[in-house]
Amino acid sequence: MIYLDNAATTAPYPEVADVMRSVMDSYYGNPSSLHHLGVESEKVLQQSRGVAAKLLGVQPGEIVFTSGATESNNLAIKGIAFQYQNRGKHIITTAIEHPAVYDVCKQLEHFGFEVTILPVDRNGVISLEDLKAAIRNETILVSIMHVNNEVGSVQPLREIGAVLKNYPKLFFHVDAVQGYGKLPVHPKEWEADLVSLSAHKFHGPKGTGLLYVRKGIDLFPLMVGGGQEGGYRSGTENLAGIVGMVKAMRMSKEKFEANPEYVRSLRNRLWDSLDQWEECKVNSPKEGAPHILNFSLPGLKSEVLLHALEDKQICISTKSACSSKVDRPSRVLLAMHVGESRARSSLRISLSYSNTEAEVHAFLTSLYQVVPQLKQMLKVT
Ligand SMILES: Cc1ncc(COP(=O)(O)O)c(C=O)c1O
Repeated sequence: MIYLDNAATTAPYPEVADVMRSVMDSYYGNPSSLHHLGVESEKVLQQSRGVAAKLLGVQPGEIVFTSGATESNNLAIKGIAFQYQNRGKHIITTAIEHPAVYDVCKQLEHFGFEVTILPVDRNGVISLEDLKAAIRNETILVSIMHVNNEVGSVQPLREIGAVLKNYPKLFFHVDAVQGYGKLPVHPKEWEADLVSLSAHKFHGPKGTGLLYVRKGIDLFPLMVGGGQEGGYRSGTENLAGIVGMVKAMRMSKEKFEANPEYVRSLRNRLWDSLDQWEECKVNSPKEGAPHILNFSLPGLKSEVLLHALEDKQICISTKSACSSKVDRPSRVLLAMHVGESRARSSLRISLSYSNTEAEVHAFLTSLYQVVPQLKQMLKVT
C-alpha cells in the first residue's frame, strides 16, 4: 500500500509504540499519588515536559499536555476569550483555519464576541495590511495557523508576530499542527503566546497533544477538577501517550534536521509533473509547505478518483480528513478564489519522511492511467 494521506494522520513510529508499551507496564502509578509508584510516574511526566519544552525552545512550565490540537485550540481560544473578556471581545482569525479554530471562533459569537475573518490571496496567505487594519482597541486574540492542512500554504508568522508585538493587550495563537517536523516551529521567534500541536500528525499516538502557553498568561480552564497541568487541564495525565508524543517529537525533528529537503524533493517531483498536465489544476503554492499538495481535475468528482486510486492500493484524501465526508466545496479553496468547480474536485496528497521516490512514481503512473479511463467511463469531456 502507498500511504499519501499524512496530513490526516501518520503511522506511529515503531519506537513510539514500544516506549508506550513499556510506560504502561512500568509507570502505571498516578502522577498525583504520594507513594513511590506515583512519584516515579511524576518524574517521567516532568522529564517529558522538559524534553518537549527543549525541542520547542521554551520553558517546561510553558507546556500544557492535552488530548490533541482540537483541545489545545479550544483551550487557547476560549481560555483567552473568557479570561480576558473585560479587555475587549474582538477576535481575529483567517478564512482558511481548521474547524478546530474557525468553528471555535464562530461559537464565541454566541457569547457576544465579534470575529473578523481575514481573507487570503491565491496562494492561501493573508496580508499584513489586512491584519493591521483589522486590529481594534477591543481585540484580545489573533489566531493564525502555521501551515494550512488542505493546501499547505505557510503564513509569515515572524512578520505577523512583529506586527502584533506592538499591541501588548492582545494575544497571538498559532495552530502549528501541520508544521511540526516539516518546518521549523519556534514559538519565541514567532513572538507567539500560544501554540498548538497534535502528536498523530508527526508519527505519535492519537489523542495526545500540547499547548505552549507563554509564561505570565492566564487561561480560563475548560476542564476543571483535580487541578493537573497547572490547573489548565484537569484529569489524570495520559502518561504513555505523553511519553510517546515526546519521543515522536524528537524523532521527527531529528529526521527533518538531518535531511530538511527530502520531503520537499518528493513534492517538487509531484508538483512539476501535475503542473505540466493540462487538465490538472494545482491549487497549492509551489513555495508552500514541503508535504502537502492539493490539485483539482475539474469535471471529475474527487471521491470517484480517490476510490479508483484506492483500488490500486493508494491512499490520498479529498479535503481535510474531518470534512471529507461533508459534500460541500472546500471552504479553504473557495477563500483562495479558485472557483467552485475546482473547489469541488480537489484532492490532497500529503507526504512524510517514510514516503519514497518509487511511491511517488507509482502514484503518478496510476493517476495517469486511471483518469482517462474514468473520464471515458463517465463521459466527462
Ligand atoms: C491544522 C489542524 N489543526 C487542528 C487539527 C485537529 O487535530 P486533532 O484532530 O488531532 O485534534 C488538525 C487535524 O487535522 C489540523 O490539521
